[in-house]
Amino acid sequence: MNITKKITTITSCAILLFCSCETEKKEQTITSTYVKESHSYAQPNASVIKHLSLDIDVDFDTETISGKATYNIDNNSANELILDTKFLEIDSVKANGKTTQFSLGDFDKQLGSPLKIVIKENTKTVTVYYNTTDKTEALQWLNPQQTLDKTHPFLFTQGQAILTRTWIPIQDSPQIRITYDAKVKVPKELMAVMSAENPKEKTADGNYTFTMKQPISPYLMALAVGDIAYKAVSERTGVYAEKSMLDKAHAEFSDMENMVAAAENLYGDYDWEQFDVIVLPPSFPFGGMENPRLTFATPTIIAGDKSLTSLIAHELAHSWSGNLVTNATWNDFWLNEGFTVYFEIRIMEALYGKERANMIALISRQDLEEEIESFEDNPEATHLKLDLKGKNPDDGMNSIAYDKGYLFLRTLEETVGRSTFDVFLKDYFKTHAFSTITTEQFITYLNKNLLEPNNIKFNTEDWIYQPRIPSNQAIITSDKFENTENALQEFLSNDTINVSLTEGWTTLEWVHFIRNFPETITTKDLARLDNAFNLTNTTNSHIAMVWFEQTINHDYHGNHVDQKIEEFLIRVGRRWYVSTLFRAFKNNDKIKEALEIYKKARPNYHSVTANTIDDLLNYKSIE
Ligand code: BES
Ligand code: ZN
Repeated sequence: MNITKKITTITSCAILLFCSCETEKKEQTITSTYVKESHSYAQPNASVIKHLSLDIDVDFDTETISGKATYNIDNNSANELILDTKFLEIDSVKANGKTTQFSLGDFDKQLGSPLKIVIKENTKTVTVYYNTTDKTEALQWLNPQQTLDKTHPFLFTQGQAILTRTWIPIQDSPQIRITYDAKVKVPKELMAVMSAENPKEKTADGNYTFTMKQPISPYLMALAVGDIAYKAVSERTGVYAEKSMLDKAHAEFSDMENMVAAAENLYGDYDWEQFDVIVLPPSFPFGGMENPRLTFATPTIIAGDKSLTSLIAHELAHSWSGNLVTNATWNDFWLNEGFTVYFEIRIMEALYGKERANMIALISRQDLEEEIESFEDNPEATHLKLDLKGKNPDDGMNSIAYDKGYLFLRTLEETVGRSTFDVFLKDYFKTHAFSTITTEQFITYLNKNLLEPNNIKFNTEDWIYQPRIPSNQAIITSDKFENTENALQEFLSNDTINVSLTEGWTTLEWVHFIRNFPETITTKDLARLDNAFNLTNTTNSHIAMVWFEQTINHDYHGNHVDQKIEEFLIRVGRRWYVSTLFRAFKNNDKIKEALEIYKKARPNYHSVTANTIDDLLNYKSIE
């Protein structure tokens, strides 16, 4: 250490010693600036929330959450605090414990209404008394019939991207970071869990308290309430599920601890202490959602053979890419998802080897190809960096962020060499821990810390700001997938199907096999394959989804597959699956069939899925 450096260190230590914490904190706030986020009304450079205390009552009879939210704020001499709200009823607001004025601004279909609260320079806390309404988009209230055990109701929330504001008034931008505590009252037969430190058993009176001491972005606020129980996998990992699912889920996720250990080994300590998964009822609109400390997951990944658990690796990876280092705006969404797919595949490789990792990577590569094709008329949508101003951020949440993001990082890895890349990534997570990053800040960081020191020229800007896939992309191959392609050829060119060729195939191989059916495949061949492999009756929901897509595309109706598709679409609300199948109906001029099923299925869907399918099928809900 040189002398000047030493002196400044000593002086700043001295300042630290003599300053009160408050002053130190204030100084930090004033220097921090937030970049413009077009999907939030908040003005965090003026006044920003730092901690939230939630005190709410969950009422299943009226399907409302009501109570109060108290915020500790850092006020940069502002006379107004602006929170995002959507479809909330605001009763009253207090500042420093005294009633204060507030107003709700104009309503926007995407963003909701800004809640403008009058504050003073010395305002430290603000309390909002509010309740949710039947229009809330984050919450799905399920009746007992919609659960697995069918005896108790269930509630879960989905915050990402901009839905937290429909159940909590909040500065709903990913750049905001808050710690929180919560008091949640639920019916005493049910347990409540959050993206926080969680109970492992029910309480006698239905009162639960939570603390989340690591600061998180508001889209990661989450709550689930149901007749659930907990089973530990290791000291710091475990599963929550309804009773009849608990043991199955526990067995399926038995590698969770190994996943966390593998992830830590790659990119540094797991900073959230606990990593649990809750298996939700099948209407959950996503495969998984990386709510901190408690991933929310669809039951469709419980295949009985651990074959779909890369989803757990994915949500776990978000504990670094996304939850620790967060996209600053939804235009930078690829920084969350592209890094996470890359990290997911590295975890899978560490646990199960290169072959399985490369199969996942190849499926991602094919998804990318299909997505790029679907954006033929809109090539800008294939850029990594997006411009979603005025649009629903959901519009940018497609395979491009995931799969082009992944391919970009894999290409970088192969260009600089794995060990160099790993050191870079580990530093990246450490340097940006508990903060947010824009694409442009990432590019600067990449140049300075990876490309320039190693004297490497790389076409980063092409990958990020140009459409489609640059020509220096990494080439991914898989012998196992080649085998499935050869087997398919053989089945289609012979009269008898040699079933033994499929021995030992895993879900990924079946998925690849089915997705590769030629456009010209006949219904006769589909029937032969169905009869040989019982595809229509598979209990693996992923195989079912790709198979059903083919039967719709090729007008195959054997083995009561139409009935199976209808049952599937009514039971499962996972948006990716559901939209794949409704899109197949639509693309094959089968809108009438689609609408008939959709009418029955829609009441079971979360708003996220229903909105997507409403748009896809041009469905106007009958109100
Ligand atoms: N964070 C996403 C889910 C999400 C994305 C919710 C955008 C809302 C808006 C989650 O991590 C995810 O990517 N889920 C995937 C899993 C998959 C890629 C393994 C899913 O749900 O299918
Ligand atoms: Zn993800």
